[in-house]
Amino acid sequence: MWLSLFLSLWVETRQPIPFSHKTHHLLGLQCAGCHTVPGKGTAATFPDEAKCMACHTSVKTDSPSIRLLADYFRQKKPVPWARIYQLPDNIWFSHRRHRKSNCESCHGPVAERDVIVKEKDITMSACMDCHDETGASNECNACHNR
Ligand code: HEC
Ligand code: HEC
Ligand code: HEC
Ligand code: HEC
Ligand code: HEC
Repeated sequence: MWLSLFLSLWVETRQPIPFSHKTHHLLGLQCAGCHTVPGKGTAATFPDEAKCMACHTSVKTDSPSIRLLADYFRQKKPVPWARIYQLPDNIWFSHRRHRKSNCESCHGPVAERDVIVKEKDITMSACMDCHDETGASNECNACHNR
Protein backbone atom coordinates (compact mmCIF):
# COMPACT_ATOMS: atom_id res chain seq x y z
CA MET A 1 0.00 0.00 0.00
CA TRP A 2 2.79 2.46 0.92
CA LEU A 3 4.68 1.41 -2.16
CA SER A 4 1.72 2.16 -4.44
CA LEU A 5 1.16 5.52 -2.73
CA PHE A 6 4.81 6.36 -3.25
CA LEU A 7 4.67 5.28 -6.88
CA SER A 8 1.54 7.31 -7.61
CA LEU A 9 3.08 10.44 -6.06
CA TRP A 10 6.27 9.87 -7.99
CA VAL A 11 4.44 9.44 -11.28
CA GLU A 12 2.27 12.49 -10.60
CA THR A 13 5.15 14.80 -9.76
CA ARG A 14 7.76 13.71 -12.29
CA GLN A 15 8.86 16.69 -14.38
CA PRO A 16 11.22 16.58 -17.39
CA ILE A 17 13.49 19.07 -15.56
CA PRO A 18 13.56 19.31 -11.74
CA PHE A 19 12.58 23.00 -11.46
CA SER A 20 12.27 24.20 -7.85
CA HIS A 21 9.93 27.08 -7.02
CA LYS A 22 11.59 27.41 -3.62
CA THR A 23 15.09 27.95 -5.06
CA HIS A 24 13.87 30.48 -7.60
CA HIS A 25 11.59 32.29 -5.16
CA LEU A 26 14.61 32.83 -2.88
CA LEU A 27 16.26 34.66 -5.81
CA GLY A 28 13.43 37.21 -5.62
CA LEU A 29 11.62 36.12 -8.81
CA GLN A 30 7.89 36.98 -8.85
CA CYS A 31 5.07 34.58 -9.80
CA ALA A 32 3.68 36.95 -12.42
CA GLY A 33 7.11 37.36 -14.01
CA CYS A 34 7.01 33.74 -15.18
CA HIS A 35 3.24 33.11 -15.29
CA THR A 36 1.93 35.99 -17.39
CA VAL A 37 -1.70 36.05 -18.54
CA PRO A 38 -1.11 37.38 -22.06
CA GLY A 39 -3.50 39.52 -24.12
CA LYS A 40 -7.12 38.57 -23.64
CA GLY A 41 -6.08 35.09 -22.46
CA THR A 42 -7.32 33.28 -19.37
CA ALA A 43 -4.39 30.88 -18.73
CA ALA A 44 -1.48 31.64 -16.39
CA THR A 45 0.92 30.07 -18.98
CA PHE A 46 4.47 28.71 -18.58
CA PRO A 47 7.58 30.83 -19.08
CA ASP A 48 9.47 30.94 -22.33
CA GLU A 49 12.78 29.04 -22.16
CA ALA A 50 14.55 32.32 -23.05
CA LYS A 51 13.45 33.57 -19.62
CA CYS A 52 15.32 30.69 -17.95
CA MET A 53 18.34 31.05 -20.22
CA ALA A 54 18.77 34.70 -19.21
CA CYS A 55 20.44 33.18 -16.12
CA HIS A 56 21.28 29.65 -17.17
CA THR A 57 23.63 30.54 -20.02
CA SER A 58 25.99 31.23 -17.10
CA VAL A 59 24.45 29.57 -13.99
CA LYS A 60 25.00 25.82 -13.43
CA THR A 61 25.89 25.17 -17.08
CA ASP A 62 27.57 21.87 -16.18
CA SER A 63 24.36 20.46 -14.62
CA PRO A 64 22.68 17.71 -16.72
CA SER A 65 19.25 19.34 -16.12
CA ILE A 66 20.50 22.70 -17.36
CA ARG A 67 22.07 21.04 -20.42
CA LEU A 68 18.66 19.52 -21.17
CA LEU A 69 17.01 22.94 -20.70
CA ALA A 70 19.57 24.49 -23.07
CA ASP A 71 18.77 21.78 -25.65
CA TYR A 72 15.06 22.63 -25.58
CA PHE A 73 15.95 26.31 -25.93
CA ARG A 74 18.29 25.71 -28.89
CA GLN A 75 15.71 23.54 -30.66
CA LYS A 76 12.99 26.16 -29.92
CA LYS A 77 10.85 23.48 -28.28
CA PRO A 78 8.91 24.22 -25.10
CA VAL A 79 9.81 22.02 -22.13
CA PRO A 80 6.94 19.49 -21.90
CA TRP A 81 6.03 20.27 -18.27
CA ALA A 82 3.63 17.75 -16.71
CA ARG A 83 0.38 19.52 -15.80
CA ILE A 84 -0.66 19.56 -12.11
CA TYR A 85 -3.87 21.62 -12.00
CA GLN A 86 -6.15 21.02 -14.96
CA LEU A 87 -9.89 21.41 -15.39
CA PRO A 88 -12.05 19.53 -17.89
CA ASP A 89 -12.31 21.45 -21.21
CA ASN A 90 -15.97 22.30 -20.68
CA ILE A 91 -15.34 24.47 -17.60
CA TRP A 92 -14.73 28.20 -18.07
CA PHE A 93 -11.98 29.51 -15.79
CA SER A 94 -9.95 32.69 -16.00
CA HIS A 95 -6.84 33.70 -14.06
CA ARG A 96 -7.50 37.29 -15.12
CA ARG A 97 -10.93 37.16 -13.46
CA HIS A 98 -9.27 35.81 -10.26
CA ARG A 99 -6.42 38.32 -10.08
CA LYS A 100 -7.77 39.65 -6.76
CA SER A 101 -7.38 36.19 -5.14
CA ASN A 102 -3.97 34.96 -3.92
CA CYS A 103 -2.22 32.24 -5.90
CA GLU A 104 -1.85 30.40 -2.56
CA SER A 105 -5.61 30.14 -1.99
CA CYS A 106 -5.89 27.80 -5.00
CA HIS A 107 -2.35 26.36 -5.28
CA GLY A 108 -0.99 26.33 -1.70
CA PRO A 109 2.39 27.74 -0.60
CA VAL A 110 4.14 27.24 -3.96
CA ALA A 111 7.04 29.53 -2.98
CA GLU A 112 8.03 27.03 -0.26
CA ARG A 113 7.87 23.97 -2.52
CA ASP A 114 10.68 22.22 -4.37
CA VAL A 115 8.11 20.05 -6.16
CA ILE A 116 4.53 21.11 -6.91
CA VAL A 117 1.77 18.60 -6.27
CA LYS A 118 -1.96 19.15 -6.36
CA GLU A 119 -2.41 20.05 -2.71
CA LYS A 120 -5.58 22.13 -3.20
CA ASP A 121 -8.86 20.95 -4.72
CA ILE A 122 -10.17 22.50 -7.91
CA THR A 123 -13.45 20.58 -7.73
CA MET A 124 -16.84 22.18 -8.24
CA SER A 125 -17.46 22.28 -4.49
CA ALA A 126 -14.09 24.00 -3.87
CA CYS A 127 -15.00 26.65 -6.46
CA MET A 128 -18.50 27.11 -5.02
CA ASP A 129 -17.36 27.32 -1.38
CA CYS A 130 -15.13 30.29 -2.13
CA HIS A 131 -17.77 31.89 -4.38
CA ASP A 132 -20.20 31.64 -1.44
CA GLU A 133 -17.68 33.25 0.92
CA THR A 134 -16.75 36.06 -1.46
CA GLY A 135 -20.17 36.72 -2.96
CA ALA A 136 -19.08 35.65 -6.47
CA SER A 137 -21.64 34.08 -8.81
CA ASN A 138 -22.72 30.46 -8.33
CA GLU A 139 -25.08 30.46 -11.33
CA CYS A 140 -24.50 27.22 -13.23
CA ASN A 141 -23.67 29.07 -16.44
CA ALA A 142 -20.97 31.21 -14.79
CA CYS A 143 -18.68 28.17 -15.10
CA HIS A 144 -20.60 25.97 -17.56
CA ASN A 145 -21.88 26.59 -21.11
CA ARG A 146 -19.79 29.66 -21.92
C1 HEC B 1 11.39 31.28 -12.84
C2 HEC B 1 10.04 31.07 -13.31
C3 HEC B 1 8.93 30.76 -12.35
C4 HEC B 1 8.52 31.49 -11.24
C5 HEC B 1 9.15 32.77 -10.68
C6 HEC B 1 7.34 30.86 -10.74
N1 HEC B 1 7.04 29.75 -11.49
FE1 HEC B 1 5.43 28.52 -11.26
N2 HEC B 1 6.15 27.27 -12.69
C7 HEC B 1 7.31 27.49 -13.41
C8 HEC B 1 7.61 26.29 -14.19
C9 HEC B 1 8.81 26.11 -15.10
C10 HEC B 1 6.57 25.36 -13.92
C11 HEC B 1 6.43 23.92 -14.46
C12 HEC B 1 7.23 22.96 -13.59
C13 HEC B 1 6.59 22.68 -12.26
O1 HEC B 1 5.41 22.34 -12.20
O2 HEC B 1 7.29 22.80 -11.22
C14 HEC B 1 5.67 26.01 -12.98
C15 HEC B 1 4.50 25.44 -12.49
C16 HEC B 1 3.60 26.10 -11.65
C17 HEC B 1 2.30 25.58 -11.25
C18 HEC B 1 1.69 24.27 -11.69
C19 HEC B 1 0.89 24.50 -12.97
C20 HEC B 1 0.18 23.27 -13.49
O3 HEC B 1 -1.03 23.16 -13.30
O4 HEC B 1 0.82 22.42 -14.10
C21 HEC B 1 1.76 26.49 -10.40
C22 HEC B 1 0.41 26.40 -9.72
C23 HEC B 1 2.71 27.57 -10.26
N3 HEC B 1 3.81 27.31 -11.04
C24 HEC B 1 2.51 28.69 -9.46
C25 HEC B 1 3.50 29.62 -9.18
C26 HEC B 1 3.41 30.61 -8.12
C27 HEC B 1 2.23 30.78 -7.20
C28 HEC B 1 4.58 31.34 -8.15
C29 HEC B 1 5.02 32.43 -7.20
C30 HEC B 1 5.10 32.04 -5.80
C31 HEC B 1 5.39 30.81 -9.24
N4 HEC B 1 4.71 29.77 -9.83
C32 HEC B 1 6.61 31.31 -9.64
C33 HEC B 1 8.07 28.63 -13.42
C34 HEC B 1 8.00 29.65 -12.47
C1 HEC C 1 -9.35 30.91 -7.86
C2 HEC C 1 -8.35 29.86 -7.97
C3 HEC C 1 -7.02 30.16 -8.58
C4 HEC C 1 -6.18 31.23 -8.33
C5 HEC C 1 -6.40 32.41 -7.40
C6 HEC C 1 -4.99 31.00 -9.11
N1 HEC C 1 -5.13 29.84 -9.85
FE1 HEC C 1 -3.77 29.03 -11.11
N2 HEC C 1 -5.09 27.58 -11.67
C7 HEC C 1 -6.35 27.43 -11.13
C8 HEC C 1 -7.08 26.45 -11.90
C9 HEC C 1 -8.53 26.03 -11.66
C10 HEC C 1 -6.19 25.98 -12.90
C11 HEC C 1 -6.50 24.98 -14.02
C12 HEC C 1 -7.03 25.81 -15.19
C13 HEC C 1 -7.50 25.01 -16.39
O1 HEC C 1 -7.21 23.82 -16.52
O2 HEC C 1 -8.17 25.62 -17.25
C14 HEC C 1 -4.94 26.70 -12.71
C15 HEC C 1 -3.81 26.53 -13.51
C16 HEC C 1 -2.62 27.24 -13.33
C17 HEC C 1 -1.42 27.06 -14.12
C18 HEC C 1 -1.26 26.14 -15.32
C19 HEC C 1 -1.50 26.93 -16.61
C20 HEC C 1 -2.94 27.33 -16.78
O3 HEC C 1 -3.26 28.54 -16.65
O4 HEC C 1 -3.79 26.46 -17.01
C21 HEC C 1 -0.48 27.92 -13.62
C22 HEC C 1 0.94 28.11 -14.13
C23 HEC C 1 -1.08 28.65 -12.53
N3 HEC C 1 -2.39 28.21 -12.37
C24 HEC C 1 -0.46 29.64 -11.80
C25 HEC C 1 -1.12 30.55 -10.96
C26 HEC C 1 -0.50 31.75 -10.39
C27 HEC C 1 0.93 32.19 -10.59
C28 HEC C 1 -1.48 32.37 -9.64
C29 HEC C 1 -1.40 33.70 -8.91
C30 HEC C 1 -1.00 34.86 -9.72
C31 HEC C 1 -2.68 31.56 -9.75
N4 HEC C 1 -2.43 30.47 -10.56
C32 HEC C 1 -3.90 31.84 -9.12
C33 HEC C 1 -6.86 28.13 -10.06
C34 HEC C 1 -6.35 29.30 -9.55
C1 HEC D 1 17.32 35.00 -12.02
C2 HEC D 1 18.11 33.88 -12.53
C3 HEC D 1 17.41 32.55 -12.81
C4 HEC D 1 16.33 32.34 -13.64
C5 HEC D 1 15.51 33.34 -14.43
C6 HEC D 1 16.12 30.90 -13.63
N1 HEC D 1 17.04 30.30 -12.82
FE1 HEC D 1 17.20 28.30 -12.46
N2 HEC D 1 18.62 28.65 -11.06
C7 HEC D 1 19.16 29.87 -10.77
C8 HEC D 1 20.08 29.74 -9.65
C9 HEC D 1 20.91 30.85 -9.01
C10 HEC D 1 20.05 28.38 -9.29
C11 HEC D 1 20.77 27.70 -8.13
C12 HEC D 1 22.14 27.34 -8.48
C13 HEC D 1 22.81 26.68 -7.29
O1 HEC D 1 22.31 25.67 -6.80
O2 HEC D 1 23.81 27.23 -6.85
C14 HEC D 1 19.15 27.71 -10.22
C15 HEC D 1 18.92 26.35 -10.24
C16 HEC D 1 18.18 25.70 -11.20
C17 HEC D 1 18.11 24.26 -11.37
C18 HEC D 1 18.87 23.21 -10.57
C19 HEC D 1 20.13 22.86 -11.34
C20 HEC D 1 20.97 21.84 -10.60
O3 HEC D 1 21.36 20.84 -11.23
O4 HEC D 1 21.22 22.05 -9.40
C21 HEC D 1 17.24 24.02 -12.41
C22 HEC D 1 16.84 22.67 -12.97
C23 HEC D 1 16.77 25.31 -12.88
N3 HEC D 1 17.38 26.31 -12.14
C24 HEC D 1 15.87 25.48 -13.92
C25 HEC D 1 15.36 26.71 -14.30
C26 HEC D 1 14.26 26.87 -15.25
C27 HEC D 1 13.53 25.75 -15.96
C28 HEC D 1 14.04 28.21 -15.36
C29 HEC D 1 12.98 28.91 -16.17
C30 HEC D 1 11.62 28.50 -15.92
C31 HEC D 1 15.00 28.89 -14.48
N4 HEC D 1 15.77 27.94 -13.86
C32 HEC D 1 15.12 30.27 -14.35
C33 HEC D 1 18.89 31.06 -11.42
C34 HEC D 1 17.84 31.27 -12.30
C1 HEC E 1 -10.33 31.78 -3.45
C2 HEC E 1 -11.68 32.04 -3.86
C3 HEC E 1 -12.15 31.50 -5.20
C4 HEC E 1 -12.03 30.23 -5.69
C5 HEC E 1 -11.40 29.02 -5.02
C6 HEC E 1 -12.65 30.23 -6.99
N1 HEC E 1 -13.14 31.48 -7.29
FE1 HEC E 1 -14.07 32.02 -9.03
N2 HEC E 1 -14.23 33.93 -8.34
C7 HEC E 1 -13.83 34.36 -7.11
C8 HEC E 1 -14.15 35.79 -6.97
C9 HEC E 1 -13.88 36.66 -5.76
C10 HEC E 1 -14.75 36.17 -8.19
C11 HEC E 1 -15.26 37.56 -8.59
C12 HEC E 1 -14.09 38.33 -9.12
C13 HEC E 1 -14.42 39.77 -9.47
O1 HEC E 1 -15.59 40.09 -9.70
O2 HEC E 1 -13.47 40.58 -9.51
C14 HEC E 1 -14.81 34.97 -9.03
C15 HEC E 1 -15.33 34.95 -10.33
C16 HEC E 1 -15.44 33.81 -11.10
C17 HEC E 1 -16.07 33.76 -12.40
C18 HEC E 1 -16.73 34.92 -13.12
C19 HEC E 1 -18.17 34.95 -12.70
C20 HEC E 1 -18.98 35.96 -13.51
O3 HEC E 1 -20.20 35.85 -13.49
O4 HEC E 1 -18.38 36.81 -14.16
C21 HEC E 1 -15.97 32.46 -12.84
C22 HEC E 1 -16.51 31.90 -14.15
C23 HEC E 1 -15.28 31.71 -11.83
N3 HEC E 1 -14.97 32.57 -10.78
C24 HEC E 1 -15.00 30.37 -11.92
C25 HEC E 1 -14.35 29.62 -10.93
C26 HEC E 1 -14.04 28.21 -11.03
C27 HEC E 1 -14.40 27.31 -12.20
C28 HEC E 1 -13.41 27.86 -9.86
C29 HEC E 1 -12.87 26.52 -9.42
C30 HEC E 1 -11.97 25.85 -10.35
C31 HEC E 1 -13.31 29.08 -9.06
N4 HEC E 1 -13.90 30.12 -9.73
C32 HEC E 1 -12.71 29.12 -7.81
C33 HEC E 1 -13.21 33.63 -6.13
C34 HEC E 1 -12.86 32.28 -6.22
C1 HEC F 1 -17.93 28.25 -9.63
C2 HEC F 1 -17.93 27.33 -10.74
C3 HEC F 1 -19.04 26.35 -10.91
C4 HEC F 1 -20.40 26.58 -10.77
C5 HEC F 1 -21.09 27.87 -10.35
C6 HEC F 1 -21.07 25.34 -11.11
N1 HEC F 1 -20.13 24.39 -11.44
FE1 HEC F 1 -20.53 22.48 -12.02
N2 HEC F 1 -18.51 22.09 -12.16
C7 HEC F 1 -17.54 22.99 -11.90
C8 HEC F 1 -16.26 22.34 -12.03
C9 HEC F 1 -14.90 23.00 -11.82
C10 HEC F 1 -16.52 21.01 -12.42
C11 HEC F 1 -15.49 19.93 -12.77
C12 HEC F 1 -14.76 19.44 -11.56
C13 HEC F 1 -15.58 18.52 -10.78
O1 HEC F 1 -16.11 17.55 -11.37
O2 HEC F 1 -15.76 18.72 -9.56
C14 HEC F 1 -17.96 20.88 -12.46
C15 HEC F 1 -18.64 19.71 -12.79
C16 HEC F 1 -20.02 19.58 -12.89
C17 HEC F 1 -20.73 18.38 -13.24
C18 HEC F 1 -20.09 17.03 -13.48
C19 HEC F 1 -19.50 16.83 -14.51
C20 HEC F 1 -19.43 16.86 -15.92
O3 HEC F 1 -19.37 15.75 -16.43
O4 HEC F 1 -19.34 17.96 -16.53
C21 HEC F 1 -22.06 18.67 -13.26
C22 HEC F 1 -23.20 17.74 -13.60
C23 HEC F 1 -22.20 20.06 -12.87
N3 HEC F 1 -20.93 20.58 -12.66
C24 HEC F 1 -23.39 20.73 -12.77
C25 HEC F 1 -23.56 22.01 -12.25
C26 HEC F 1 -24.84 22.65 -11.96
C27 HEC F 1 -26.20 22.02 -12.21
C28 HEC F 1 -24.57 23.90 -11.48
C29 HEC F 1 -25.56 24.96 -10.98
C30 HEC F 1 -26.35 24.55 -9.84
C31 HEC F 1 -23.11 24.03 -11.47
N4 HEC F 1 -22.54 22.89 -11.94
C32 HEC F 1 -22.43 25.19 -11.07
C33 HEC F 1 -17.69 24.32 -11.56
C34 HEC F 1 -18.89 24.96 -11.33
